[in-house]
Amino acid sequence: MYNAKSLMRDRYGLDIDLAVKITPTMEGMLLHRSCRAYTGQDIDEGLLNVLLACAQSAPSKSNLQQYSIVVVRDADRRAAIAKLVPGLLPWFETAPIFLCFLGDLRRIRRLAKLRSRNYQNNNSDTFMNACVDAGLAMQNFVTAAESAGLGTCPISMIRDQIAMFADILQLPNGVFPIAGLTIGWPKNTGVSAVRLPASTVVHREVYNDANLEADIEEYDLRAHERKPIEPDGQRLKDIFGEVEICTWSDNVTRQLSEPERPLFREFLRSRGIHLS
Ligand SMILES: Cc1cc2nc3c(=O)[nH]c(=O)nc-3n(C[C@H](O)[C@H](O)[C@H](O)COP(=O)(O)O)c2cc1C
Repeated sequence: MYNAKSLMRDRYGLDIDLAVKITPTMEGMLLHRSCRAYTGQDIDEGLLNVLLACAQSAPSKSNLQQYSIVVVRDADRRAAIAKLVPGLLPWFETAPIFLCFLGDLRRIRRLAKLRSRNYQNNNSDTFMNACVDAGLAMQNFVTAAESAGLGTCPISMIRDQIAMFADILQLPNGVFPIAGLTIGWPKNTGVSAVRLPASTVVHREVYNDANLEADIEEYDLRAHERKPIEPDGQRLKDIFGEVEICTWSDNVTRQLSEPERPLFREFLRSRGIHLS
Protein backbone atom coordinates (compact mmCIF):
# COMPACT_ATOMS: atom_id res chain seq x y z
CA MET A 1 0.00 0.00 0.00
CA TYR A 2 2.82 2.45 0.78
CA ASN A 3 5.81 2.84 -1.46
CA ALA A 4 8.99 4.79 -0.83
CA LYS A 5 7.75 7.73 -2.92
CA SER A 6 4.46 8.18 -1.06
CA LEU A 7 6.21 7.81 2.32
CA MET A 8 8.78 10.44 1.35
CA ARG A 9 6.05 12.77 0.15
CA ASP A 10 4.27 12.29 3.45
CA ARG A 11 7.44 13.01 5.45
CA TYR A 12 8.93 15.89 3.46
CA GLY A 13 6.10 17.09 1.24
CA LEU A 14 8.49 16.46 -1.66
CA ASP A 15 8.54 13.98 -4.52
CA ILE A 16 11.60 11.82 -3.91
CA ASP A 17 11.84 8.55 -5.80
CA LEU A 18 13.93 5.90 -4.08
CA ALA A 19 14.44 2.35 -5.29
CA VAL A 20 14.67 0.97 -1.76
CA LYS A 21 12.85 -1.81 0.06
CA ILE A 22 10.95 -0.19 2.91
CA THR A 23 10.74 -2.45 5.97
CA PRO A 24 7.66 -2.39 8.25
CA THR A 25 9.75 -0.64 10.95
CA MET A 26 10.84 2.06 8.48
CA GLU A 27 7.28 2.46 7.28
CA GLY A 28 6.02 2.92 10.84
CA MET A 29 8.71 5.50 11.60
CA LEU A 30 8.13 7.42 8.37
CA LEU A 31 4.42 7.60 9.15
CA HIS A 32 4.96 8.85 12.71
CA ARG A 33 2.68 11.59 13.95
CA SER A 34 1.95 12.71 17.49
CA CYS A 35 -1.60 11.93 18.55
CA ARG A 36 -3.71 14.32 20.61
CA ALA A 37 -7.13 12.62 20.32
CA TYR A 38 -7.87 9.22 21.84
CA THR A 39 -10.94 6.98 22.04
CA GLY A 40 -10.66 6.52 25.82
CA GLN A 41 -10.41 2.71 25.52
CA ASP A 42 -8.10 1.14 28.10
CA ILE A 43 -4.69 -0.38 27.37
CA ASP A 44 -3.94 -3.90 28.53
CA GLU A 45 -1.29 -4.08 31.29
CA GLY A 46 0.52 -6.90 29.42
CA LEU A 47 0.88 -4.74 26.30
CA LEU A 48 2.07 -1.81 28.44
CA ASN A 49 4.73 -4.02 30.04
CA VAL A 50 6.04 -5.13 26.64
CA LEU A 51 6.16 -1.51 25.45
CA LEU A 52 8.08 -0.57 28.59
CA ALA A 53 10.53 -3.42 27.89
CA CYS A 54 10.95 -1.96 24.37
CA ALA A 55 11.71 1.40 25.99
CA GLN A 56 14.31 -0.24 28.23
CA SER A 57 15.84 -1.94 25.18
CA ALA A 58 17.15 1.40 23.90
CA PRO A 59 20.90 2.00 23.95
CA SER A 60 22.22 3.77 27.02
CA LYS A 61 25.55 5.53 27.67
CA SER A 62 27.94 2.89 29.16
CA ASN A 63 24.76 0.97 30.04
CA LEU A 64 24.47 3.38 32.98
CA GLN A 65 20.69 3.55 32.41
CA GLN A 66 20.39 6.93 34.10
CA TYR A 67 16.66 7.36 33.64
CA SER A 68 13.40 6.22 35.20
CA ILE A 69 9.82 6.05 33.97
CA VAL A 70 6.73 6.70 36.09
CA VAL A 71 3.47 5.14 34.87
CA VAL A 72 0.43 7.17 35.92
CA ARG A 73 -3.02 5.59 35.72
CA ASP A 74 -4.56 6.84 38.97
CA ALA A 75 -7.52 9.19 38.36
CA ASP A 76 -6.72 11.59 41.23
CA ARG A 77 -3.07 11.92 40.27
CA ARG A 78 -4.04 12.48 36.62
CA ALA A 79 -6.54 15.15 37.68
CA ALA A 80 -3.79 16.89 39.67
CA ILE A 81 -1.55 16.87 36.58
CA ALA A 82 -4.36 18.18 34.36
CA LYS A 83 -4.97 21.01 36.83
CA LEU A 84 -1.31 21.93 36.75
CA VAL A 85 -1.03 21.79 32.95
CA PRO A 86 -4.37 23.09 31.61
CA GLY A 87 -2.98 23.10 28.04
CA LEU A 88 -3.32 19.29 28.10
CA LEU A 89 -7.09 19.40 28.30
CA PRO A 90 -9.34 17.97 27.01
CA TRP A 91 -7.38 15.28 25.17
CA PHE A 92 -5.25 14.26 28.17
CA GLU A 93 -8.41 12.90 29.79
CA THR A 94 -8.97 10.41 26.98
CA ALA A 95 -5.48 8.91 27.20
CA PRO A 96 -5.71 5.96 29.62
CA ILE A 97 -2.01 6.09 30.47
CA PHE A 98 0.39 8.92 31.12
CA LEU A 99 4.10 8.23 31.42
CA CYS A 100 6.81 10.49 32.67
CA PHE A 101 10.39 10.00 31.50
CA LEU A 102 12.87 11.16 34.11
CA GLY A 103 16.59 11.80 34.22
CA ASP A 104 17.82 9.73 37.17
CA LEU A 105 21.12 10.75 38.74
CA ARG A 106 20.04 9.33 42.10
CA ARG A 107 20.36 5.62 41.41
CA ILE A 108 24.10 5.58 40.72
CA ARG A 109 24.80 8.03 43.54
CA ARG A 110 23.09 5.54 45.85
CA LEU A 111 25.10 2.69 44.34
CA ALA A 112 28.33 4.64 44.91
CA LYS A 113 27.42 4.87 48.61
CA LEU A 114 26.46 1.21 48.71
CA ARG A 115 29.81 0.20 47.18
CA SER A 116 31.71 2.79 49.29
CA ARG A 117 33.00 4.62 46.22
CA ASN A 118 33.45 8.33 45.55
CA TYR A 119 30.97 9.84 43.16
CA GLN A 120 32.76 12.45 41.05
CA ASN A 121 30.33 13.04 38.21
CA ASN A 122 27.97 15.84 39.15
CA ASN A 123 28.67 17.41 35.79
CA SER A 124 27.02 18.55 32.57
CA ASP A 125 28.24 15.48 30.69
CA THR A 126 26.39 13.15 33.08
CA PHE A 127 23.32 15.36 32.87
CA MET A 128 23.36 15.17 29.07
CA ASN A 129 23.84 11.39 29.14
CA ALA A 130 20.79 11.02 31.38
CA CYS A 131 18.69 13.21 29.05
CA VAL A 132 19.81 11.25 25.98
CA ASP A 133 19.15 7.90 27.68
CA ALA A 134 15.62 9.01 28.64
CA GLY A 135 14.97 10.42 25.16
CA LEU A 136 16.04 7.22 23.45
CA ALA A 137 13.88 5.14 25.80
CA MET A 138 10.91 7.40 25.09
CA GLN A 139 11.42 7.12 21.34
CA ASN A 140 11.68 3.31 21.55
CA PHE A 141 8.40 3.35 23.47
CA VAL A 142 6.78 5.59 20.83
CA THR A 143 7.93 3.42 17.92
CA ALA A 144 6.75 0.21 19.60
CA ALA A 145 3.43 1.76 20.66
CA GLU A 146 2.72 3.08 17.16
CA SER A 147 3.52 -0.35 15.69
CA ALA A 148 0.77 -1.75 17.97
CA GLY A 149 -1.72 0.84 16.66
CA LEU A 150 -1.46 3.18 19.67
CA GLY A 151 -0.96 6.93 19.50
CA THR A 152 1.34 8.97 21.74
CA CYS A 153 2.32 12.56 22.39
CA PRO A 154 5.41 13.72 24.29
CA ILE A 155 4.71 16.52 26.76
CA SER A 156 7.33 19.06 27.82
CA MET A 157 4.57 21.31 29.19
CA ILE A 158 4.96 19.38 32.47
CA ARG A 159 8.10 21.49 32.95
CA ASP A 160 6.03 24.70 33.05
CA GLN A 161 5.36 24.04 36.75
CA ILE A 162 8.20 21.65 37.28
CA ALA A 163 8.51 21.74 41.07
CA MET A 164 4.80 21.11 41.64
CA PHE A 165 4.79 18.40 38.97
CA ALA A 166 7.80 16.71 40.62
CA ASP A 167 5.91 16.77 43.93
CA ILE A 168 2.86 15.06 42.37
CA LEU A 169 5.15 12.18 41.34
CA GLN A 170 7.05 12.36 44.65
CA LEU A 171 10.38 12.67 42.87
CA PRO A 172 13.36 12.55 45.25
CA ASN A 173 16.57 14.57 44.92
CA GLY A 174 18.64 13.73 41.86
CA VAL A 175 15.59 12.85 39.72
CA PHE A 176 14.16 15.35 37.25
CA PRO A 177 11.30 15.31 34.71
CA ILE A 178 12.29 15.37 31.05
CA ALA A 179 9.01 14.72 29.25
CA GLY A 180 5.62 13.22 29.80
CA LEU A 181 3.96 10.95 27.24
CA THR A 182 0.23 10.47 26.71
CA ILE A 183 -0.75 7.08 25.31
CA GLY A 184 -4.06 5.93 23.93
CA TRP A 185 -5.93 4.43 21.01
CA PRO A 186 -6.09 7.13 18.31
CA LYS A 187 -9.45 8.66 17.49
CA ASN A 188 -8.31 9.64 14.01
CA THR A 189 -5.31 9.17 11.76
CA GLY A 190 -4.17 12.80 12.06
CA VAL A 191 -1.90 14.67 9.68
CA SER A 192 1.84 14.20 9.63
CA ALA A 193 4.08 17.24 10.12
CA VAL A 194 6.46 17.73 7.20
CA ARG A 195 10.10 17.75 8.19
CA LEU A 196 12.94 20.03 7.14
CA PRO A 197 14.54 18.78 3.94
CA ALA A 198 17.39 16.33 4.46
CA SER A 199 19.68 18.87 2.76
CA THR A 200 19.16 21.19 5.76
CA VAL A 201 19.65 18.63 8.49
CA VAL A 202 21.97 16.00 7.04
CA HIS A 203 25.48 17.19 6.17
CA ARG A 204 27.86 15.08 4.11
CA GLU A 205 31.39 14.79 5.49
CA VAL A 206 31.45 18.34 6.89
CA TYR A 207 28.88 20.79 8.18
CA ASN A 208 27.51 23.12 5.50
CA ASP A 209 24.45 25.34 5.89
CA ALA A 210 25.12 27.60 2.90
CA ASN A 211 21.66 26.90 1.46
CA LEU A 212 19.70 27.51 4.65
CA GLU A 213 17.73 30.57 3.57
CA ALA A 214 16.46 29.04 0.32
CA ASP A 215 15.74 25.70 2.01
CA ILE A 216 13.67 27.39 4.72
CA GLU A 217 11.67 29.50 2.25
CA GLU A 218 10.61 26.30 0.50
CA TYR A 219 10.04 24.40 3.72
CA ASP A 220 7.82 27.17 5.10
CA LEU A 221 5.64 26.88 2.00
CA ARG A 222 5.39 23.09 2.16
CA ALA A 223 4.66 23.08 5.89
CA HIS A 224 1.91 25.69 5.40
CA GLU A 225 0.43 23.72 2.51
CA ARG A 226 0.29 20.58 4.64
CA LYS A 227 -1.05 22.16 7.83
CA PRO A 228 -1.47 25.92 8.24
CA ILE A 229 -0.65 27.26 11.71
CA GLU A 230 -4.04 28.41 12.98
CA PRO A 231 -4.38 31.59 15.11
CA ASP A 232 -4.48 29.56 18.35
CA GLY A 233 -1.13 27.95 17.45
CA GLN A 234 0.59 31.27 16.71
CA ARG A 235 3.12 32.04 19.45
CA LEU A 236 3.36 35.26 21.50
CA LYS A 237 0.48 36.97 19.71
CA ASP A 238 0.47 39.76 22.30
CA ILE A 239 3.93 40.78 21.06
CA PHE A 240 3.92 39.84 17.37
CA GLY A 241 0.22 39.91 16.53
CA GLU A 242 -1.97 37.45 14.67
CA VAL A 243 -1.17 36.93 11.01
CA GLU A 244 -3.07 35.30 8.18
CA ILE A 245 -0.15 33.10 7.15
CA CYS A 246 2.12 32.14 10.02
CA THR A 247 5.06 30.15 8.68
CA TRP A 248 7.11 27.60 10.61
CA SER A 249 10.15 29.88 10.73
CA ASP A 250 8.01 32.80 11.87
CA ASN A 251 6.46 30.72 14.64
CA VAL A 252 9.63 29.09 15.99
CA THR A 253 11.46 32.43 16.09
CA ARG A 254 8.45 33.99 17.84
CA GLN A 255 8.56 31.15 20.39
CA LEU A 256 12.27 31.41 21.14
CA SER A 257 12.36 35.21 21.31
CA GLU A 258 11.49 34.84 25.00
CA PRO A 259 13.33 32.54 27.44
CA GLU A 260 11.48 29.26 27.93
CA ARG A 261 11.30 27.87 31.47
CA PRO A 262 14.05 30.07 32.91
CA LEU A 263 13.61 28.49 36.34
CA PHE A 264 14.76 25.02 35.24
CA ARG A 265 18.34 25.45 36.47
CA GLU A 266 17.06 26.65 39.82
CA PHE A 267 14.78 23.62 40.04
CA LEU A 268 17.72 21.29 39.35
CA ARG A 269 19.74 22.95 42.11
CA SER A 270 16.84 22.67 44.52
CA ARG A 271 16.85 18.92 43.80
CA GLY A 272 20.55 18.46 44.56
CA ILE A 273 21.69 18.66 40.93
CA HIS A 274 24.63 21.10 40.93
CA LEU A 275 26.43 20.64 37.65
CA SER A 276 30.10 21.42 37.10
C1 LIG B 1 10.68 16.50 24.06
C2 LIG B 1 9.34 16.80 23.40
C3 LIG B 1 8.41 17.56 24.08
C4 LIG B 1 7.16 17.83 23.51
N1 LIG B 1 6.24 18.54 24.21
C5 LIG B 1 5.00 18.73 23.73
C6 LIG B 1 4.02 19.38 24.52
O1 LIG B 1 4.28 19.82 25.64
N2 LIG B 1 2.77 19.54 23.98
C7 LIG B 1 2.45 19.06 22.75
O2 LIG B 1 1.30 19.21 22.35
N3 LIG B 1 3.37 18.42 21.98
C8 LIG B 1 4.64 18.24 22.43
N4 LIG B 1 5.58 17.58 21.70
C9 LIG B 1 5.21 17.04 20.38
C10 LIG B 1 5.77 17.93 19.27
O3 LIG B 1 5.02 19.11 19.22
C11 LIG B 1 5.72 17.16 17.95
O4 LIG B 1 6.58 16.05 18.03
C12 LIG B 1 6.14 18.04 16.79
O5 LIG B 1 5.24 19.10 16.60
C13 LIG B 1 6.23 17.26 15.50
O6 LIG B 1 5.00 16.63 15.22
P1 LIG B 1 4.90 15.06 15.03
O7 LIG B 1 5.42 14.40 16.28
O8 LIG B 1 3.44 14.79 14.82
O9 LIG B 1 5.71 14.69 13.84
C14 LIG B 1 6.85 17.33 22.22
C15 LIG B 1 7.80 16.56 21.53
C16 LIG B 1 9.03 16.30 22.11
C17 LIG B 1 10.04 15.45 21.37
